[in-house]
This record gives sequence, structure tokens and C-alpha cells, in this order.
Amino acid sequence: MDNETNIIPWCVDSGKINYSKLILQFGCHGIDGKLIQRFEEVTGVRAHVWLRRGLFFSHRDLKLVLDAYEKCEDIFIYTGRGPSTGSLHLGHMVPFMFTKFLQDAFNAIVIIQLSDDEKFHFKKEKTLEEYTKLAYENAKDILACGFDVEKTFIFSNTDTVGCDLYKTAVKLMSSITGNQIKGIYGLNLDNSIGQLSWPCFQAAPAFSQSFPNILGNTPIRCLIPMAIDQDPYFRMARDFANKYKNKGFIKPAAIHSKFLPSLNGHSKMSSTGENTEKYTIFMSDTQDQIKNKIKKYAFSGGCDTLKKHRRYGGNLKIDIPYQYLTYFLDDDDELRRIANEYGSGRMNSSQIKTITSNVICSVVQNHQNFRADLSINTFTKFFNKNRYFDTQKIHRNNLDTHDHRYFKTGCDFDIYFNSLNIVYKQLPVIEESELENQISDRSDKEEK
Ligand code: TRP
Repeated sequence: MDNETNIIPWCVDSGKINYSKLILQFGCHGIDGKLIQRFEEVTGVRAHVWLRRGLFFSHRDLKLVLDAYEKCEDIFIYTGRGPSTGSLHLGHMVPFMFTKFLQDAFNAIVIIQLSDDEKFHFKKEKTLEEYTKLAYENAKDILACGFDVEKTFIFSNTDTVGCDLYKTAVKLMSSITGNQIKGIYGLNLDNSIGQLSWPCFQAAPAFSQSFPNILGNTPIRCLIPMAIDQDPYFRMARDFANKYKNKGFIKPAAIHSKFLPSLNGHSKMSSTGENTEKYTIFMSDTQDQIKNKIKKYAFSGGCDTLKKHRRYGGNLKIDIPYQYLTYFLDDDDELRRIANEYGSGRMNSSQIKTITSNVICSVVQNHQNFRADLSINTFTKFFNKNRYFDTQKIHRNNLDTHDHRYFKTGCDFDIYFNSLNIVYKQLPVIEESELENQISDRSDKEEK
């Protein structure tokens, strides 16, 4: 494995990940326009902007989930969070916001694991009890995405493993060897037993047998939205299901997101490590903090003088404010306009930063309002698995899906709207002299 694509669950730090290569390496599949069109046909719901723009870019067996849904069979959704800090950051929210979208689209039960034990095994900075406390704190941020309480069960792993969930974990543990764990995760005999056994606990909730009182006694397929680094757990779960399919285990399906970059663009956004107070946007940040961070620390693809900027334009590929807009500004026409204006140098870097600040401030404000409105009763109810869960089906009218735009959707969506100007499109192969000619050609045209 080279550095660019060295992805194991607990040590992703590269901001420069080659996602297409990862699809090949992991053996998953890109999400293209055809699949998105099928998603809309089957669910009757327009694809989320992150699907449309290829930010959730890869999947395993999403087609089978759609087939099941089309046949009115039940499916369920599972995701999770390792509670390592008090407040979640913007990057953490991406899979959860998307999970909420999927809950509505499929009208499905969502199961959320808070892996306090995982963080205890791997981070080792706090006591187990402290990680459990953080799990409940983090749950408020997660639930503020607007999950439906009658269709959602969230749990701290240490408080909940037992009974059916533990039985699935035991079956996984009895079938998976130490060598497999070593092969998949790069762990070895110097790792603690807690670390070596953890993958079975993360995989167990991906099987409906773990929650019969919520999901019933007939096995149903699971869909797992996650950041791509979590995929190895579920490759293991899928191998297990393959081996035990005659015992009713169904291979979980998956849908993978790219990472939201940190403000300096060097790595994925992170809540631990150095300089998080500069380069990370926390969901608890005030509007002023967010504006200040973006203004001061967001890496700009603009040129260092206005004169140069007007001439060469901004480099959208490395500009963090622009990258954030591809996530959080829903309106394609407005995004296209900004790409054109900024890419051509008509809009300057402080202007795009102001736009991004406003967009992000409104996402965070919205979140904080939702979080504040969550009553203690509702919060407690989310954690109770012995209650009524709404598994009723709904029917939606068909959407018009005869549209040419699907060809350029998903993996094939151009998030730069053809606005990567000549300079940045052709770097680094282009010769200096050639570059000068092209630039003067372009400015000639602009002047005319
Ligand atoms: N391992 C994840 C983390 O470190 C947390 C997690 C637990 C998870 N169960 C999951 C993530 C299921 C995705 C799907 O944050």
C-alpha cells in the first residue's frame, strides 16, 4: 500500500486520498448516475446533494438494498461513533446527517452504536467511565440531526452489549481467527485482547439478529453509511455472513463518504491532535469563532496579490472554503456561479470566505437549535430498546426520473463546473512559456 491510500480505521491522517484508487483497492463500487437514478425511482425521493455530487462516492450492495425496498421488504440502517471528545465537529456530522436522510428515504429503523469501549481500547487517554460519559454527551449532537425517535435506537456499547447483541458478537468471535484480524487491521499479538476483539463488536450490530425485539425474527439486510476508513470492519462482517448464510446471516451493504478536510487542508478534520482550536469547526463553536477560524485559517487557493488573483483566478481544487461549499451549499446553480466567479479571479478569496462562513454558520446554528430543543424525555427514549418502534411502510408517488442530468451525477459530477481554469487544469505538466501564452490568450478574450 502506498501512502496515498493507506487506510486503516484508526490511523487515517492524509488529506490527499486517491478515492478512485481506494475503490479498486477495497473492491467496492463507485456510485454513478445510473445508480442514483435507480435510488430516486425506487424511493421516490430526490438524491441528497452528497450523493449527487459524489461525496458519498462508493458502495457495496446498495443495489440489493434498493431491490429489497422495491419489493417492500424491510431493511435497516446501522452506523456509529467512537466518543473521543465532548463536542462533535463538522466532519463527524457528515455520516449522521446522511444517515438521517436515508432514514427518511427508506423509512427505516436506524441503529447507532456509541463505541465507548473502542475508544478505551484504542485511545487509552481516559477511564472507561469517562468514555461512557462522552458517549451520552455525543448522543445529543448525533440526535440533533433530527432522527425519528420511533425509528431510532442509540446505545452505549458498554451499557448495552448482552443478550442478543452479545450472542452475535460471540458468533463472530468464534469464527474469526487472530490471523484474520492481523491481516485486515494490521494488529498483532502485542495488541491488547480488547483491541484484537473490538472488530467483532463493531460488526455485530450489522446483523438484525442482534436486535430481534426491534427488527423482528426474520433476518433483514443492513445498510451502513460510514466514512470510507470504517470499511474493513464490514468487509470482515460480509465474509462472516458469506460463511454463515445458511444460518440466516445476510451480508451488510455499505455506502461510503469521503473525508471533510480540516481548515488547513492537510488532513481530514479531526478533534484530537494539535491545533484543533484553529483548524476544526466544532458543532459547539459560536458564530464568531467560526467566522474567525475561516477567515484566519482556511487554506486559500487564491493568489497572494489581488493583481495576480484577477489574472490567474483561484485554484478551486485546493481552496478549502470552496471545498466546504461543495458539501454545505445545496444550490447547484449558486455553486456553479461561485466556481465561475472565483475560478476566474473575479471573486476574491475574502469574498468566498464570507460566503462559506455564512453557509457554515447557518448549518451550525441550525444544529445548535435542534440540540437545545431535545427534551430529556425524548433523549432517554432513544436509548430504550424495550418500547414501540415504528416499522410501518409508506408509499410515495413516483418521481420523474427521465432526465439527462443523471449522466453527470455521482462519481461523474464535476464539482468544479468546468471552471478549473486553464492554469490549474493543466498543472503540473504544462511548460512555463506555454502557460504564459494561454494566460494571455485568456485575458485577451476577457478584455474583448
Ligand atoms: N469505529 C467508529 C469510530 O471510531 C465508531 C463506530 C462504531 C462506527 N460502530 C460503527 C462507525 C458503525 C460506522 C459504522 O468513530
